[in-house]
Amino acid sequence: MKTYQKILGIVAITASTTGLLYSAAVYGDDDDHEGGFGWFKQSKLDVAPVENAVYRAECGSCHFAYQPGLLPEVSWRKMMAGLEDHFGDNAELSAEVNKTILDYLVANSADKSDYKRSKKIAGSLKQDEIPLRISDTVYFKRKHNEIPVRFVADNKDVGSYSKCAACHTRAEQGSYNEHEVKIPGVGRWED
Ligand code: HEC
Ligand code: HEC
Repeated sequence: MKTYQKILGIVAITASTTGLLYSAAVYGDDDDHEGGFGWFKQSKLDVAPVENAVYRAECGSCHFAYQPGLLPEVSWRKMMAGLEDHFGDNAELSAEVNKTILDYLVANSADKSDYKRSKKIAGSLKQDEIPLRISDTVYFKRKHNEIPVRFVADNKDVGSYSKCAACHTRAEQGSYNEHEVKIPGVGRWED
């Protein structure tokens, strides 16, 4: 091997090792790691982020735009078929917009997604169960059963589990890691 080839080889190995160590270090302290590898970043997200502008505008106006990967297809179909009475509100849409949104939700639903939390949510459902709330799923309840009521329903800055982004500082990005939780008026979650 010529000397310059050796040097090139060493540089390449050093660069990839540094990259891996960097990703590992950043992963460890749960900071953003925009400089890490794309695949690594994706593998850390819990659900796929919302990427549909129509969905975001129509379904993110009253509350957080829940990622489609938080509920299974059957749930989205049922919800989109009853928007005139949506948890007591009228959220009806034109047939055309409804179809655009339903197609997006179904294609990215929990039972079709490869993201880790989507798979767990889908896997936790009983047969024939059609939850209309993410917060009614078995997986969600298991993950939130240690949180005292005074931090949620009785917390004037939260009020209900529907407000994912009130506690999950990176919910918008699709990251629900327990180490990124900060409960309003309480602070970081340490368990
Ligand atoms: C007019 C206001 C409004 C619009 C528009 C709206 N929602 Fe809602 N949504 C609500 C209310 C109110 C609740 C109940 C919130 C609570 O209990 O705190 C809710 C709850 C939800 C929940 C359950 C969250 C949980 O607790 O797990 C989902 C899922 C949801 N909406 C999806 C959608 C989708 C999809 C759309 C778009 C088609 C949409 N929403 C549009 C008002 C709205
Ligand atoms: C009152 C604050 C609060 C709200 C609101 C809330 N969460 Fe959480 N969530 C937590 C805490 C605290 C944990 C960590 C619990 C534990 O590990 O004991 C958690 C854990 C999770 C986890 C598991 C993360 C992990 O690292 O294991 C997921 C997924 C999650 N939440 C999703 C959601 C979604 C989706 C919503 C909205 C529908 C939501 N949460 C609303 C506080 C909240």
